[in-house]
Amino acid sequence: MALRLGDDAPNFSAETTEGKIDFHQWLGSSWGILFSHPKDFTPVCTTELGTVAKMKSDFDKRNVKVIAVSVDPIASHHGWLSDINETQNTQMNFPIIADPQRTVAGLYDMIHPKADDTFTVRSVFIIGPDKKIKLTLTYPASTGRNFPELLRVIDSLQLTVNHKVATPANWQDGQDCIISPAVKDVDVPKLFPKGSRTIKPYLRYTPQPNK
Ligand code: BEZ
Repeated sequence: MALRLGDDAPNFSAETTEGKIDFHQWLGSSWGILFSHPKDFTPVCTTELGTVAKMKSDFDKRNVKVIAVSVDPIASHHGWLSDINETQNTQMNFPIIADPQRTVAGLYDMIHPKADDTFTVRSVFIIGPDKKIKLTLTYPASTGRNFPELLRVIDSLQLTVNHKVATPANWQDGQDCIISPAVKDVDVPKLFPKGSRTIKPYLRYTPQPNK
C-alpha cells in the first residue's frame, strides 16, 4: 500500500556509498529527503545528483539530510560517483543507497509496474524529525526533478509547524502568508502582531511570522 502523508516513514538498514546505515538513526533529529533513481549511469539521474550535491549547503541550513536510492549494487554506485563528479563539476557529498534486493523500493512503493516493472520511478519523500511522511511526489523517469521546489516546500513545512499559517500558490520564503482558517478573527492581532489584511473572511494575509 502506498505511503500517505502522516504515515510513519519505514525504517530499514542499507548499504550506502557512505557506509551501512540504519535509516532512522542516520536521520537523527533532522528532516530528511529520500529520493529514488531508476538506474545508475543514466543521464537525467546524473544531473539530479550533481545538482543536489551543489545545493548541499541549502539543505544543511534547513537541517535537512538528503539521501538517494537506486536498485543497482554498491560497486556500480561507486563507479557512477566519479562520473557525476566529473560531468557535473561537483563533489558528491551525500549517500546513495544500494538497493539490489529492492527492499527500500518495496517499503516506499517506488516501483510502479505500469511505468517499469524493474526500476524505481522518481519518487520523493520529505520526512519530518518525527519520522512521519510530510510530502510525496512521483515523477516519470523522463523528467528531472526541480530541487528548489523541495527547498520551498521545506521552508513552508518548517514555518507552518510553528505558526498558524499556510503558504499561498508559488509562495517563496519571505513573502506574505495566509492566516489559517482555524484562527478566529478575534485572535488575529495577538497571534500576528505584524498585522493582517482581509480580502475575504476566509482569505486573510499576514507578513511571514518568522522573518
Ligand atoms: C535518466 O535518468 O536519464 C533516465 C532513466 C530512465 C529512463 C529515462 C531516463
